[in-house]
Amino acid sequence: MALKSKIIISVFLSLTYLSVIAQQKEVFYKVSENPLYKNSSIPTEQRIEDLLQRMTLEEKVLQMTQWTYGTNANENNIEDKMNEVRPEIGSLLYRSDSPKFRNQIQKKAMEDSRLGIPIIFAFDVIHGYRTIFPIPLAQACTWDTELVKRSCAVAAKESHSAGIDWTFSPMLDVARDLRWGRVAEAYGEDPYANSVFGVAAVQGYQGNSLADKYTIAACLKHYIGYSLSEGGRDYQYTDVSGQTLWETFMPPFEAGIKAGAATVMSGFNDITGTPATANYYTLTDVLKNQWKHDGFVVSDWESIENLIPQGVAKDRKEAAYKCVMAGLEMDMKSDVYLENLPLLVSEGKVPIETIDEAVRRILRLKFKLGLFDNPYVEELPDNERYLQPEFLELAENVAAETMVLLKNENSILPLNRMVKNIAVIGPMANDSLHIMGSWEGIGKSDDAETLLEGIQKEFGNKANINYAKGCDFDGLDSLGFAKARIAAEKSEIIILCIGEKRQWSGESGSRSNISLPAIQEELVAELSNLNKPIVLVISSGRPNELSRIHSKVDAIIEIWQPGLRGGSALAGILSGRTNPSAKLAITFPLTSGQQPMYYNRRQSSRPIYGQYRDVSKDPLYDFGHGLSFTEYKYGEIQLSDTIIDKSQTLIAEIEIENTGKFDGKETMLWFISDPVANISRPIKELKYFEKKSIKAGEKMVYSFEIVPERDLSYPDNTGKRHLEAGDFYLQVGNKKVKFELVD
Ligand code: BGC
Repeated sequence: MALKSKIIISVFLSLTYLSVIAQQKEVFYKVSENPLYKNSSIPTEQRIEDLLQRMTLEEKVLQMTQWTYGTNANENNIEDKMNEVRPEIGSLLYRSDSPKFRNQIQKKAMEDSRLGIPIIFAFDVIHGYRTIFPIPLAQACTWDTELVKRSCAVAAKESHSAGIDWTFSPMLDVARDLRWGRVAEAYGEDPYANSVFGVAAVQGYQGNSLADKYTIAACLKHYIGYSLSEGGRDYQYTDVSGQTLWETFMPPFEAGIKAGAATVMSGFNDITGTPATANYYTLTDVLKNQWKHDGFVVSDWESIENLIPQGVAKDRKEAAYKCVMAGLEMDMKSDVYLENLPLLVSEGKVPIETIDEAVRRILRLKFKLGLFDNPYVEELPDNERYLQPEFLELAENVAAETMVLLKNENSILPLNRMVKNIAVIGPMANDSLHIMGSWEGIGKSDDAETLLEGIQKEFGNKANINYAKGCDFDGLDSLGFAKARIAAEKSEIIILCIGEKRQWSGESGSRSNISLPAIQEELVAELSNLNKPIVLVISSGRPNELSRIHSKVDAIIEIWQPGLRGGSALAGILSGRTNPSAKLAITFPLTSGQQPMYYNRRQSSRPIYGQYRDVSKDPLYDFGHGLSFTEYKYGEIQLSDTIIDKSQTLIAEIEIENTGKFDGKETMLWFISDPVANISRPIKELKYFEKKSIKAGEKMVYSFEIVPERDLSYPDNTGKRHLEAGDFYLQVGNKKVKFELVD
């Protein structure tokens, strides 16, 4: 018998069994006309308790269940079949954008179920809903938390108007190995950056109150350590030491929880022997007992069932047992809870208190979202909900601040106004699909402006634009090179747009080699033979290996996957309308084989030995690298003191002068190093950042207040923090000063 039919039969049997037991024990309470839980003037916790004591076990377990509705846009989780929605379900992964359908389903929940408990409608709103913003990795390169917050607020507004209450975002899996495609979805390789941007995202989605009209609940994912997936292959084992857990992976989640994130999603990964979905230590000890999270944890897609292939559960029943006992409240998609929890409770294996506590947490979010009191959303026409002019303007502004100018030899950019013929070449030039990135919400490539369109609009009749595709993203066909050469020969400058298809990053988008396919490298080589200036524009979900091509071009702009308004944003940088200000939130290695390579690694025992025989030990572009059209002169770091005790705050200041001709925005990334400690420390660690506008010819003072307990202490492998006296270094740009911490 097919597995599916077995599951259906066993769900049916267990529910029948349950309802017989329930009837025998007369646990069906009659719902009074005006039950307490329906009274909005009663405190939430009382409403929850009132409702909980009216619920049958079956109703409780249904609350712990999430089903899907609609066509799945995520090709890793194909689920075309529309499940018949049960009105008692806890949540629906809702893949339609119709508020009308959503309200109809909600009406079923409110009116056709015994207790009228509203459903939470969920969707992956990752970097926009219909207005698609740049991918999160790109957003981190803005170093502007306000922009990130505003883009999440737009995403919340658009998605909520379609009936979404809950997004599975932000993803806070600190990037480690660039072969892992999901580096596109996090805020780069630094724990502090992921913390700060994660908080901005939570604030953007959730606003001041979850009950407000335009807000949605956030979900911090994938808790935890998922980015260490072995070899960068998705869904693999992760060997996460206690030290790494507390130093690298926990901080963003802790910050997100403190900022009030409503929910958390457990990762697919096996954490050093115990899968994240069944991990009592991370889900209960840390999240609920230590951090006092009052929301709930949803599994990742069928990740409860995944305990079987992971080799820690012999069947679905054991998987359900292990996860519920670990503190995992909601089952995404696998129906393992629905099938097994009633039996496990009746057999006395799972205490009813455990179920009650899980349901309490789920109901709490429903009350916080205001769903009991306002279960329906407005049904406005699409043109009043999506792609509003201010949303698109923001999408362009965010994109402009994500694009990193990696190289600009002889200040070839911005383009000289005298340039009359511009060649725009490459497979990415006229693409409107791949620039959207993975997890494109309900974004449509028809809404997206291509890079070519942006350039045509920017230069209008001031220059001739000569376009040629040159080649595909991959394959061997170089027939298009001839047309590309002709376009280039007619032009004074070549804008060469290459990069990755969107499914080459994101979930299950791992690559063993982070180079671009040979055909694209050959196109670069071919055009470089013409001895014309080349501006290389790369759109990708990760830093690529550029070792064979970076020296063949004059300028390089990494535009990541910029979303709907990448074309205008790029064109603004080419013309000089925008002065680039982005800086890398992730290291650009020189070669694939240098992986993993991140700036905050440990020191070596023999620093000058043990390097590769074939390539440099250094990356191509460091974390924090990013050029501007203007120049900044850095003063010296001024400290309020050079010796402080543990209760003192140290104030550091630096004056920056814009000595160039362009107004600009400059970001200070403040790093601290602790060269000697009882537990070795990373070479340096980002502790604070700030971005400010500085007009040409003006000066600006940046400051950072160092609070010893917060900025100089470090965790051990249990999370306990240690603050040790000794020397520290503070670094910003290429300026570095020493100070001492005394007892
Ligand atoms: C992904 C999650 C996502 C979920 C729901 C999973 O496969 O890992 O990030 O939120 O699907 O679509």
